[in-house]
Amino acid sequence: MNQRNILGEASVALNAKELVLKSLKEKDGKFVSGEKLSAELKVTRAAVWKQIQALRKDGYTIESKPKLGYRLLGVPDVLFPWEIQAQRGRSLIGHSVHRFDELDSTMDKAEELAQAGGEEGLVVVAETQKRGKGRMGRMWLSPQGGVWLSIILRPKIHPRYAPILSLMAAVAVARAIWRVCHLEAKLKWPNDVLLEGRKVSGILTKINAETDLINYVIVGVGVNVNVNPASLDPRLREAATCLKDEAGREISRTTFVQVLLEEKEKLYRLFLRRDFTAILNAWKRLSDTLGRWVRVEFQGEAVEGEAVDLDGTGGLLLKLADGSLRQVLAGDVKVLRNR
Ligand code: BTN
Repeated sequence: MNQRNILGEASVALNAKELVLKSLKEKDGKFVSGEKLSAELKVTRAAVWKQIQALRKDGYTIESKPKLGYRLLGVPDVLFPWEIQAQRGRSLIGHSVHRFDELDSTMDKAEELAQAGGEEGLVVVAETQKRGKGRMGRMWLSPQGGVWLSIILRPKIHPRYAPILSLMAAVAVARAIWRVCHLEAKLKWPNDVLLEGRKVSGILTKINAETDLINYVIVGVGVNVNVNPASLDPRLREAATCLKDEAGREISRTTFVQVLLEEKEKLYRLFLRRDFTAILNAWKRLSDTLGRWVRVEFQGEAVEGEAVDLDGTGGLLLKLADGSLRQVLAGDVKVLRNR
């Protein structure tokens, strides 16, 4: 449950299970007696026991010993809202997290919630997706072990700036990868995130707008965290990778999502202040596209040129062979050579 202060920032009110968990975590692996827990939380010892059982059912490893009480030995890497929100305090993005074991697509669920009035910053996350959506109508493999989430945003800004939200999401993913895995990700226009040239994350944005005002934007982010898509689809062997393989260790998805939402929030606050240049510059610094000779394909048409810059709304500027400039707003980029 969430509460909003006068600034509209949310803080999270914890339920009994979350309170027991918080107390156990604060004891840092040491025992805490049932008596102390029941006094601290002002509930009966039977109620404490009930919550311990509920936590065990969720996958938490909790040891109980007569006279000593309970201690927390292990936390599952499940994207529980209370775990994602634990470190986030008053946040705009992620004040409300809706988690599902399985969805067709987090895009559809987020859109359904947006149409029912879902607030800005609401996050939908699924452990797996049956019909994950990729760009250009492609499908997106979404098995267990990845991060598949969509965020509702409602910026009061002209729709022409909406593409910057996709670039922003890619920058946030790259920054999260650096903070969590110490790996340097690069960005391919418009919003693929690459590690050593292989795609590790993709962004899908769906906008609902009037002529000059955005109603809502759904920003979908898929990150191959502990799952290598190439192991599921051999056609992706050259093209895709995952954080686990690149980092050489299993990555906590919970930590990754926390950091990702934090980075998203920082960038989104810039966006709301209309500091688009800061976001575009951040994208350019991470770009793997600018300075290269590329071919962009969109709806059966193709254009080739040197990717020289972004325009003020996130479009790609190409310098064609005849020296003229061409603005590209959408498409699939293929790098042909370095220049
Ligand atoms: C791409 O083609 O690169 C975009 C992939 C976007 C995948 C994410 S996973 C979470 C969200 N839900 C979806 O169905 N798609 C996006």
